[in-house]
Amino acid sequence: MTPLNQPPEVVPLVALAQIDDGGLVEVEALVAGAPESLVVHRAGADARAWLNVCPHAGRRLDWAPGRFLRSKEGGLVCAAHGASFELVGGLCVAGPCRGESLRAVAVEVRDGQVLLAEGHAG
Ligand code: FES
Repeated sequence: MTPLNQPPEVVPLVALAQIDDGGLVEVEALVAGAPESLVVHRAGADARAWLNVCPHAGRRLDWAPGRFLRSKEGGLVCAAHGASFELVGGLCVAGPCRGESLRAVAVEVRDGQVLLAEGHAG
């Protein structure tokens, strides 16, 4: 049991090896104390994450949990109304919320695990 005066254990979100390079997965995690669905994107040895919430109308981006539409350019397409996001900065490049961005969640890769960066959410 963890003593109360110690920081909470860092919980891995997902193993990097469980994400295809260039792929996307959905994970559930506590972000700033609130349960959230996250989109995690692997880019080689790095990972990026965003809240699984579209800036257009606040809907989930996936059409079923963990199932994402992709554009032919490799972007992430919101299943609700087709907004298309690039996967470097999470910027909407086409569709109803063009110019807005997904809300980034800071993650880091350590020992092959994608972890929430300590104390940071977005
Ligand atoms: S909620 Fe995503 S495009 Fe409308």
